[in-house]
Amino acid sequence: MDVFEAIRRRRSVRNFTGDPVVAADLEKIVAAGIEAPSGCNMQLRQYVIVDAPAVMDNLRPLSGAIDGAPAAIVLLVDPQATKYGEFWIQDASAAMENMLLAAEALGYGACWVEGALRRCEETLRELLGVPANLRVWSLMSVGRAAKTPPRPQKSEFAQVVHRNRFGERFRNA
Ligand SMILES: Cc1cc2nc3c(=O)[nH]c(=O)nc-3n(C[C@H](O)[C@H](O)[C@H](O)COP(=O)(O)O)c2cc1C
Repeated sequence: MDVFEAIRRRRSVRNFTGDPVVAADLEKIVAAGIEAPSGCNMQLRQYVIVDAPAVMDNLRPLSGAIDGAPAAIVLLVDPQATKYGEFWIQDASAAMENMLLAAEALGYGACWVEGALRRCEETLRELLGVPANLRVWSLMSVGRAAKTPPRPQKSEFAQVVHRNRFGERFRNA
């Protein structure tokens, strides 16, 4: 799938069929995360692929967005500061977006789940055996979409894009 098509088609999917995700596809999705840019190329990211039903069952109560998903990818980050600043949040975000687009390109639905995770970082740390030096930063559900939500309202190009100087239109309508 063309990258623009994947960007256009991607939606946050929260309803899944019961079909499992092929292990080789989970591998491809995470490989896309590993390929993402990273400040000073420090790559402070680790990934836990969860596809065992018993482990997924433990994750389900954490968020409605992963409730029906057959698999999840949990993104861990070592929150080290680099000499130029703290890049870890941006690094993790870049990896997450790459993974969402890879999942879309492979025909899966996925959802970035962060909000609830902040409240259950320690639960996940315990469930997945994550060492204390790593933040359990975010997770992504993945599966075959049972229902793809409609495209939500997105910013109008002309309202958020400026050319050379704030307030100057990129092009006249
Ligand atoms: C940082 C971040 C955290 C998010 N956390 C959640 C979440 O906890 N639960 C959820 O259902 N969706 C979550 N989402 C998905 C957003 O709700 C979704 O991206 C937004 O509504 C736009 O819809 P779209 O992704 O289909 O374009 C999160 C997205 C981002 C970028």
